[in-house]
Amino acid sequence: MCGIVGYVGKKQAVPILIDGLSKLEYRGYDSAGVAVMQDGKIEVKKAKGRLAVLEEKLNSEGKITGVMGIGHTRWATHGEPSDTNAHPHLSKTGKFAVVHNGIIENYIKLREYLTSKGFEFISETDTEVIAHLVEYYYTGNMVETVAKIVEKVEGSYALGILCDDNPDTFVAVRKESPLIVGLGDGENFIASDVPAILGYTRDVYFLENDEIVVLSSDDVKIYTTDGDEIKKEPFRVNWDISAAEKGGYEHFMFKEIMEQPRAIKDTISPRIQNGKIVLDDINLNADYIKKLDKIYIVACGSAYHVGVVGKYVIEDMTRIPVEVSIASEFRYMNPIVNERTLTVVISQSGETADTIAAMREAKRLGSRTFAVVNAVGSAIAREADDVLYTWAGPEISVATTKAYSTQLNAMYLLSLYIAQELELIDNARLNDCIEALEKLPDNIQSIVENKEEIQYIASKYYNAKSVFFLGRTLDYAVSLEGSLKLKEISYIHSEAYAAGELKHGTIALIEEGTVVVALCTVKPLFDKMLSNIKEVKARGAVVIAIAEEGHTEIEKEADYVIYIPKSDSLVLPSETVVPLQLFAYYVASLKGLDIDKPRNLAKSVTVE
Ligand code: AGP
Repeated sequence: MCGIVGYVGKKQAVPILIDGLSKLEYRGYDSAGVAVMQDGKIEVKKAKGRLAVLEEKLNSEGKITGVMGIGHTRWATHGEPSDTNAHPHLSKTGKFAVVHNGIIENYIKLREYLTSKGFEFISETDTEVIAHLVEYYYTGNMVETVAKIVEKVEGSYALGILCDDNPDTFVAVRKESPLIVGLGDGENFIASDVPAILGYTRDVYFLENDEIVVLSSDDVKIYTTDGDEIKKEPFRVNWDISAAEKGGYEHFMFKEIMEQPRAIKDTISPRIQNGKIVLDDINLNADYIKKLDKIYIVACGSAYHVGVVGKYVIEDMTRIPVEVSIASEFRYMNPIVNERTLTVVISQSGETADTIAAMREAKRLGSRTFAVVNAVGSAIAREADDVLYTWAGPEISVATTKAYSTQLNAMYLLSLYIAQELELIDNARLNDCIEALEKLPDNIQSIVENKEEIQYIASKYYNAKSVFFLGRTLDYAVSLEGSLKLKEISYIHSEAYAAGELKHGTIALIEEGTVVVALCTVKPLFDKMLSNIKEVKARGAVVIAIAEEGHTEIEKEADYVIYIPKSDSLVLPSETVVPLQLFAYYVASLKGLDIDKPRNLAKSVTVE
């Protein structure tokens, strides 16, 4: 996510904005900027790169003085990291400056409308439409103007806005993206997160959706979009800086598990338009797809596990053969790849050396490459022929959760898009799938709200020496991820196994007290999973089952059952994985381990 800071008071704004943005660096960013009211005119300075680059620019290109301003660190979603795409964005006449955190889902429609009204765009961002829209709807009253913005703009946003008609006040508003107001003595602030202002005040307002705030040095007023003033009780923040960076959570991993509903919504919503799957500006048309004889999915680690899910869903929906390979194997296995192969590379960081090399090998063999990436402008994003970005926001914890989940959704979107292009899916089925995708964030929210049950189970087995994860087809694919999550943060040996394969050898390892996590969400194979549970129970195993609500017969066989909301089989992997993420988290937490920075691991493996 991006970082926003705003200040109005009696001190110079720039040092305070830079200081506040530096406290938000943990959120991940690729460019930064400030806009300050100087002698009644808005002055903007922004730069690609770290804050130090912006500071160098501020020092070398002439200081900006003024006691009111807004600042921003950008995590790119629409448009590469660049000076031009960095925030703040100015309106057409320079009368307004805007900083934004979130995703404008209808920005293309708004951009087309504003262009038809004579507005010109200089950036590739969704945010720039807000700057011009504010100018377009400006009535002389900023609360009324922002209310109009709230009415017209779809998506998630936290906005800070300067207007040169108001040299002593600025406004802010939020929808879905967090924004707080800091209440100082003769000075007031806005910020995306508490750390940015903890050095100045601990008294804050947490803004609710559609609340419009007007700040001056000695006053803060909050309004509804109808213009009615709201009275709020200040909240006293007692966190230390480290806790504040995690939004009050103990670990980034837990915070990112909690962010999954939002991340999934941000990733899928803009790609469902008028009951159809729309994949940005991806060049995969029916003529090209019809010529394919294979899709190859290539990735590492959890991204590879996404590819295993992708194989099942894409083959099931499109009947195009899909091979999935670990990148470090793919590049040396003399793969059968040619111009009739579409190679899908999946990577959160977009910088994984093995995946980059595998992508280059596929291109060398004549294959078109389609990247699913979280980090905009990363090496894989730049080199692939097409990129489908997952808008999970920066993922800080080494163990991936929200990025994995948004990558799963990218697989669902890709399989539906291809089936739609090949006219293999009827409207009724497409509508069912879209409905399931749109319900997914709420279903995942309900699972995380049930986290205490998973914490209890973890408290029973955090000293286990080995844990098996069993499943069939899609459940097997998800069991791979569950096993890796446990291994990489709790250091407990674990193995994921196709449940039907267990009896061909590995069942010899099952003994009294062996912990087995049985994934039983694939409806047609539920009874077979019950048999597998009986198999391992007969040898003394303790079984923790994951099943869809309603399948209570499993309680007769398993020692523990974690239920997930009923949903379409297409999206169930996204639900099934959440209890496994939480199980691994609680086990590692009970073992007192460094969950966000596990031993021997790096967030991005940029070496082979
Ligand atoms: C997953 O929790 C691990 N951090 C690791 O397996 C990771 O998925 C793998 O290194 C691939 O990283 P990427 O998605 O950035 O390419």
